[in-house]
Amino acid sequence: MIRKGIILAGGIGSRMSPLTKAVNKQLLPLYDKPLIFYPLSILMLAGIKNILIIVNKGQLNQFRKILPEKNNLGISIEYKEQLKPEGLPQAFTIGEKFIGKDNVSLILGDNFFYGQSLTKTLKKNTSFKKGAKVFIHPVKNPSQYGVAFLDRKNKVIKLVEKPKKPDSNLAVTGLYFFDNQVVQFSKKLKPSKRGELEIIDLLNIYRKKKILSAEFIGRGGAWLDTGSVKDYYDASSFVSTIENRQGLKIACLEEISYKNKWINKKDILNSIKFYGNCVYSQYLKTLI
Ligand code: G1P
Repeated sequence: MIRKGIILAGGIGSRMSPLTKAVNKQLLPLYDKPLIFYPLSILMLAGIKNILIIVNKGQLNQFRKILPEKNNLGISIEYKEQLKPEGLPQAFTIGEKFIGKDNVSLILGDNFFYGQSLTKTLKKNTSFKKGAKVFIHPVKNPSQYGVAFLDRKNKVIKLVEKPKKPDSNLAVTGLYFFDNQVVQFSKKLKPSKRGELEIIDLLNIYRKKKILSAEFIGRGGAWLDTGSVKDYYDASSFVSTIENRQGLKIACLEEISYKNKWINKKDILNSIKFYGNCVYSQYLKTLI
């Protein structure tokens, strides 16, 4: 089972400077909520209640203001600081104590996923026991991502980080499931040419041991980039379009918890107090 999840919310967001100079990118608004609500909602939709958020040194208090350890979401939130960003697999050494003897999911703090099929896929996969699992999605610009090459039986035969000439359009998204070996494997990694530990190198260890599997986020699901300012605003208008059409919110954390029966009406009322008089609170009122 996967019962624990790590959100990697470090990084300096240099591509979005000056927006990210004073505020961590994951705290910027993606339409009507801070960006971090979206990856957190994905873990919660997968039924994961034990969350470790890894943030940049010195930014902990910013995050605590919006996602305190003592929260009304019925989930356990812990924080750890990343002293120096040295690559995604660092999440597993920083999170070693949090992971303990369990399996773990990692989601990158700036990844946006949407789609009903996704929730089903997640739920189906949380019973996962051994190995590693990646979630893949077709994109027009694969050379900006980790890319998976599959054989005819949909087995991953090659994984390359940002290939110049990709011969597959399948990006490896920023959501991963790992068994407990991930901590030891991460410790063995060596920095790549760009001086970072690479998630692709970690996944390749699993692939070589033949315990890596890939799951498609079907084409009805969306995986959007929030890397550049333009991508960020495109993702924001996507959320705005859906929410304003349906009158339902994407990544309303209390709504997910309430549906999961992790919280009750009293917790939602506490949340309303916490957020104050705003559109988000008005939406919360409609839930109860
Ligand atoms: C990272 C990973 C890459 C993955 C991407 C998903 O890239 O290295 O394999 O496809 O996240 O968002 P980065 O955003 O650090 O360039």
